[in-house]
Amino acid sequence: MNIIEAKNITLIRDNKKVLEDVSFDVGKGEFVAIIGPNGAGKTTLVKIMTGLLKPSRGEIKISGVEPDNFISKRRGAVGYLPQKAIVNWNMPLKVLDVVLIEKLSPFSFFRKYSKEDVERAEYWLEVFGIKGKMNTYIKDLSGGEQQRVSLARCMFNEPEILILDEPNTAVDAVYNVKIYETLRKLCDNRDITVIMVTHDIGAVTMYVDKVMCLNIKLHCHSSPSTIDYSDMLKKVYGENVNMVIHGERCDSCVFGAKNDRNTY
Ligand SMILES: Nc1ncnc2c1ncn2[C@@H]1O[C@H](COP(=O)(O)OP(=O)(O)OP(=O)(O)O)[C@@H](O)[C@H]1O
Ligand SMILES: [Mg+2]
Repeated sequence: MNIIEAKNITLIRDNKKVLEDVSFDVGKGEFVAIIGPNGAGKTTLVKIMTGLLKPSRGEIKISGVEPDNFISKRRGAVGYLPQKAIVNWNMPLKVLDVVLIEKLSPFSFFRKYSKEDVERAEYWLEVFGIKGKMNTYIKDLSGGEQQRVSLARCMFNEPEILILDEPNTAVDAVYNVKIYETLRKLCDNRDITVIMVTHDIGAVTMYVDKVMCLNIKLHCHSSPSTIDYSDMLKKVYGENVNMVIHGERCDSCVFGAKNDRNTY
């Protein structure tokens, strides 16, 4: 069953096509990676999926309705991690407060959370390996730790669709793999649909169901095993690109590591 269907999306800005005739669909419970060079339109496309931008032409539906309609009817059903931070990491807040930010009073930092909320926040902090820092001030976190806290915050409402715009730029290679494994399990065990923009083409292909290669136009939208990478990379990134794609056989590299101990 498709949860997202997009037909001929074109977005024009300053008389320039930022996206052109982009059509795709995403099945419920799928893990999809969106890749492409800087300026390819990836952030623009995910903003269209979250209803923050409207296409100039074409249409996009989530469960049969426009994204803003879907989101307003089912509050919390879409978790979105934008590329640019929405949290001011210098605020006098602790990690737990960020995960529970919706529960904070708008006029003060007075914190009084229910036991259930705290337990749910702790659960998601644990899933992203950052529970040990739940009482740390957010200004004292590293960039990668901030990204892991943001992922826990996105999962707090247990959304049906998780849209992540470069969630792992500051995350180290070992934890990167753990994030991919975690997202894979969320798809497999909870039927959550995950759409992730990333520049980490080499590793992510091991974990996702589909790769969307975007550079204004959608150059491919298929299972990673069916993609001709050298052809696709030349089309999307230009001629002088050579890339190592990691796979199951990379026993000695970190991307071949498997951790099947936890279920989420
Ligand atoms: N607010 C804006 N007004 C005008 N043009 C914009 C605006 N935001 C983005 N653009 C332009 O739209 C194009 C696509 O931008 P977008 O942010 O979607 O790219 P991206 O693929 O996410 O790139 P990156 O990998 O650098 O994040 C770029 O040429 C960018 O300069
Ligand atoms: Mg972007």
